[in-house]
Amino acid sequence: MTTHLNSDALRVSGCRPLRGRIQIPGDKGITHRALIASAFAEGESAIKGCATGQDVLHTRSVLQELGVEIQSSGLQSISINGQGVQSFSPSQAVLDCGNSGTTLRMMTGVLAASTFNSELTGDASLRSRPMGRVVDPLRLMGANIEYGEVAGNAPLLVNGSVLEGSAIEISVSSGQVKSACLFAGLQAQGVTEINEPAPSRDHTERLLEALGAPIERVSETCIRIKSGSIKPFELNVPGDASSAAFLIVAALITPGSLVTIEEMGLNPLRIRYIELLKNMGAQIVVDETDERLGEPIGSVRVESSQLKGCIIEASEGIIDEIPILAVAAAFAQGETEFRQVAELKVKESDRISTLTQELGRLGVEVESGEDSLIINGGQPQPGQVSSHGDHRLALSLAVAANALTGDTVIEGWSAADVSYPDFVVDLDRLTAGQ
Ligand code: S3P
Repeated sequence: MTTHLNSDALRVSGCRPLRGRIQIPGDKGITHRALIASAFAEGESAIKGCATGQDVLHTRSVLQELGVEIQSSGLQSISINGQGVQSFSPSQAVLDCGNSGTTLRMMTGVLAASTFNSELTGDASLRSRPMGRVVDPLRLMGANIEYGEVAGNAPLLVNGSVLEGSAIEISVSSGQVKSACLFAGLQAQGVTEINEPAPSRDHTERLLEALGAPIERVSETCIRIKSGSIKPFELNVPGDASSAAFLIVAALITPGSLVTIEEMGLNPLRIRYIELLKNMGAQIVVDETDERLGEPIGSVRVESSQLKGCIIEASEGIIDEIPILAVAAAFAQGETEFRQVAELKVKESDRISTLTQELGRLGVEVESGEDSLIINGGQPQPGQVSSHGDHRLALSLAVAANALTGDTVIEGWSAADVSYPDFVVDLDRLTAGQ
């Protein structure tokens, strides 16, 4: 059972098994990209099943500030009257991206080729995150971007200019940075070639390919794009694989659970965590049934399972799932070692430190290093924990709490609204009557 104690604390009383079938909210990453792509296209696009978290609402409001006409019937169903990005109108306002790194980084690439100047900023967490990784490659294409008060951080002052395609090596494997370069490349003169150190999520490539953009995948880590246009489209956004991870781990670690998640996005670069969980002993069956604008979808059936510890080498494909995998590890037998996780320090919170602290409060033994996290699985205990304003930490802690007998209170629960505002509704539905 879950109880909202005040505007910002949630009490979760476990242990309650999850049973039933559920369709989770639309994918956040795909919704951001579909919104931006619909502004590039000339004509009416319709997006259904949009993610409803605050991050996506920020992409939407930034586009509206730039004059894009967006109409909605409810939060999840919207139609966009795209006029191409050349028709954007300069905004008087500073463009506020809230907590959303995806909005800020991708819109930097979109606006770098505009004919006006804009300022992009966000909340304190976003203003402390590294922006050089997106500014440097865009500057190689001729972008004129300056930092506000602190070099390397937002606010970013993006002075629109004519971009030239060039060969770019991006320094970290990042779906956000790669997408910023793709949106810039779609407006630049000549060919833009983007190389990254390791494959990152490829939603932008899939969408642009499906919409007829001049894009060529040279290899898993190299893409070329030329200036061109894309068609308006209709999309029913697949369920978010990262949001699903919370319910999947909840079912795995709460004895007596059996859950099927329907119409979930099954992009291979987003569901690597499922393979890792299976290596830990998870009983999960994935059934791919369809495709939507290049994105595979299907159902995922999960049964509660006794997990065992293992070694996990991080990659961009699982970086968002490390908090919830850490919870799985806390309930597993033996030790789980996460390696190459330094990137966690520059997420919505310093996740190496916040995970160590908060799992510790649930009695879990965690050893953290500069680049690693070692979790000694066993018998976590209920307790009082905090989200540190980080949505994935809030959601992961709620999953742990649901599997524990007794009451756990999560302070800073409202952070969950960033990506999965209906998590409590979905958890309560699956645990109802148990
Ligand atoms: C995202 C890419 C990842 C991920 C973020 C969403 C995206 O970030 O952590 O939640 O939509 O492209 P990086 O690009 O920083 O790896």
